[in-house]
Amino acid sequence: MTKLGIILASARPNRVGEHVSRWVLDAVPTGVDVDLIDLREVALPAFDGTSSPKQGLPKETDHSRAWGERIDALDALVILTPQYNGSYPGNLKTAIDFLYEEWNELPTVLVGYGWGSAGEVLPLLETLMTRLGADVVGSVGLGFREDLSVEGELFVADEKASALRELLSTLSERSLAKVG
Ligand SMILES: Cc1cc2nc3c(=O)[nH]c(=O)nc-3n(C[C@H](O)[C@H](O)[C@H](O)COP(=O)(O)O)c2cc1C
Repeated sequence: MTKLGIILASARPNRVGEHVSRWVLDAVPTGVDVDLIDLREVALPAFDGTSSPKQGLPKETDHSRAWGERIDALDALVILTPQYNGSYPGNLKTAIDFLYEEWNELPTVLVGYGWGSAGEVLPLLETLMTRLGADVVGSVGLGFREDLSVEGELFVADEKASALRELLSTLSERSLAKVG
């Protein structure tokens, strides 16, 4: 895996996602080039293309071209999502909607956090990414009380940390198989 993207979806000023991103970064094998993609900085507008990205027509705006190029440069992806009203935040859905072929066959791991170990958002996000052709390798859900506090203090059990490391290693294998 030469380039791993980590999408940080939450845009809140006091987001717990930032603490979760550090936990994920700690599990990334050394030597991997990481692009931490903060959707707050990417700051895409509401979807404004004149056609569905699935049609594959040239992108019409600077922001859609820049976003497409950033994802296209990745060999693998981790998406960090909070659980908002049982689903993913709207800005993550928008960022996903902006592209189509860039997600295709991209080896992807999902990391969710929320109450109930993010058990509502993870299957929804997996369905969405699979629909777009991403190669979803697996997911890890962190739960308030079990794995982290609502303020973002992490005390994740070893099993989940090992599960994440295993998924990252599978990502690496899948992305190498794609290249080779
Ligand atoms: C708009 C909104 C809706 C939420 N809905 C849920 C929910 O349905 N399930 C849940 O487990 N937590 C829910 N929460 C709590 C979030 O999981 C918690 O605030 C978490 O810290 C959000 O991630 P962030 O801090 O990285 O933004 C909600 C929070 C917000 C702001």
